[in-house]
Amino acid sequence: MSTPDPKGAPPRGLPPVGEVSLLSAHAPRTTETPSYPSAALTSTPGVALAGARAPGGPTLPELDPLSLTNAIAQIANQLWAAPPPPATSVPGTPDTSAMSSPPTALAPSPPTASASSPPTAVTPIASEPSAAPFVPTALQPTSSASPAFAPSVPTSSAPPAFASTAAWGGAPLDAPLSFDAVDFLVDPSRDVGLDRILRVPLQEPAAFASPAFASPAVAPAAEPRFALDVFEIAPAADPALASLDRPLEPNVIKSEFPILSEPVRGKRLVWLDNAATTQKPRAVIDRLAYFYEHENSNIHRAAHTLAAKATDAYEAARESVRRFIHAPSPREIVFVRGTTEGINLIAQTWGRRNVSEGDEIVISWLEHHANIVPWQQLCSEKGARLRVAPVDDRGQVLLEEYEKLLGPRTKLVSFTQVSNALGTITPAREMIEMAHRHGAVVVLDGAQAVSHMPVDVQQLGCDFFVFSGHKVFGPTGIGAVFGRAELLDAMPPWQGGGNMIQDVTFERTTFQSAPARFEAGTGNIADAVGLGAALDWLSRVGVHNVERYEHELLEYGTRALATVPGLTMIGTAPAKAGVLSFVLDGQKTEEVGGMLDQDGIAVRSGHHCAQPILRRFGLEATVRASLAPYNTCEDLDALARALHRLQAGR
Ligand code: ALA
Repeated sequence: MSTPDPKGAPPRGLPPVGEVSLLSAHAPRTTETPSYPSAALTSTPGVALAGARAPGGPTLPELDPLSLTNAIAQIANQLWAAPPPPATSVPGTPDTSAMSSPPTALAPSPPTASASSPPTAVTPIASEPSAAPFVPTALQPTSSASPAFAPSVPTSSAPPAFASTAAWGGAPLDAPLSFDAVDFLVDPSRDVGLDRILRVPLQEPAAFASPAFASPAVAPAAEPRFALDVFEIAPAADPALASLDRPLEPNVIKSEFPILSEPVRGKRLVWLDNAATTQKPRAVIDRLAYFYEHENSNIHRAAHTLAAKATDAYEAARESVRRFIHAPSPREIVFVRGTTEGINLIAQTWGRRNVSEGDEIVISWLEHHANIVPWQQLCSEKGARLRVAPVDDRGQVLLEEYEKLLGPRTKLVSFTQVSNALGTITPAREMIEMAHRHGAVVVLDGAQAVSHMPVDVQQLGCDFFVFSGHKVFGPTGIGAVFGRAELLDAMPPWQGGGNMIQDVTFERTTFQSAPARFEAGTGNIADAVGLGAALDWLSRVGVHNVERYEHELLEYGTRALATVPGLTMIGTAPAKAGVLSFVLDGQKTEEVGGMLDQDGIAVRSGHHCAQPILRRFGLEATVRASLAPYNTCEDLDALARALHRLQAGR
């Protein structure tokens, strides 16, 4: 049993939260202590046991790590987001000296973690004073704040009721798991609010009625505190429930991004250039460092240990991508450098094989250059025609006009889910259905969508989906293409080289099937792993929580900017995500960007690689503020104040 420190420190050997893993998809129905890994676990389908993973322990291939680790993550996040109950040992910074598993921090890491901390060290956010409830500052500091500046921004929720009755134990690594070594203890008499994710059929409810039970310090020590089968956790059935519905705490999120503490020109950095690139959370930075410190190798090639570790990490990242966009199979996920390369890959493989003279490709007026130029090039090579669906004055695709463009010659439709220049959310599902009615294949550009809203490629029905890692809190130089298996299997390779071949002679080469066929040469292994960490991080935050929060933030920002004299918002569609694009009377956009930089505020000024849509509005450039979940109303207040000053000539 883990022995608590008399001073109340957590028991030694607590697994850091990232160590929480699965032992088995089946809970042992025995009270015998299983050794780890145990071949003696008996089966109870659909029930699993949460445990601490020993370094180097195998991952059982039949497991679905998604659902259970997410479920565990939810418990951990909830526990750690709440103040520790009196006289309990809700875990503190664990002793990680002996640990060497990858950092997959499941709870926000505080900014106070020292640089020398091992990446697995995670401190409960409850101990972090900056995790205060977020209160938006009104632009106009009057006591009767205008409703226009009093949005219902999420504030800190009350600690979950079950926090005071839950405990976390730890297993000394390299030791067999014992009854009391792991897992959760949830008081069945409380409504834990996890019923959509968890089923916790406690066998001995009476034993758990007392909150005192939550404290290892006061728990009976002589006997195992509970039998293994009292903390069964049913895997989440629905991957969309990757995170609990809960208010998002932007300041807690912010604290996970080291660069956001970086002063710029002596001011607090206000990062509002998220459509260009997002900042990276500690979980991603640490994961990259961990990869290079402990796993670095080429992949899919050698028999040595590091090759196996690196290959596992890379393929686990592919699975994270699959899960994040709800693709049916990891075989349908191809790693590329980013959205631009992904679209070029599709154009050069599927496009070259399937588009012929007289065929038509349909895009929309909202597109980024990366979703225009590759199709122009293909059309010019093949003698095909590029057709463009127009938008209205608010920046919405005119669906009737779009439909008129579709016909028997339409081979492919490619459009963005969210406009990078205006923020318009396109009615993607409807547009995809319309294209499919005409037999076209559909590419959806998800570059600006993935960080703002849940994406489900099966529900959307797209044939291809493309996005970049760096726009979704991951590294630069990595992104992914989802392609339906039957399409990928019928596509010729793109680039030739190592890794993508089955057999090579001087006479002929045979190729791997997807996705390897499209991943010639040594890929961006570490950054793929980092992308996986980013998506896992965002799933823990909950993309639907982000969507809800950013919607309110966008409304707040829209109202705030509307008070700036001479400001015109470009892109006013009712369905928008994350973008406030505007021009200011009498000001050059690059000068506005430069002036805001003086205040530590980063926005993008220019054409945003989407010249046609800006020209649709008679412009060559706008100033664009773009949002992420670490932005707050204070950030938008700072922006609005600076613009007010500029317009007032101060
Ligand atoms: N596509 C990126 C942007 O919109 C670079 O800024």
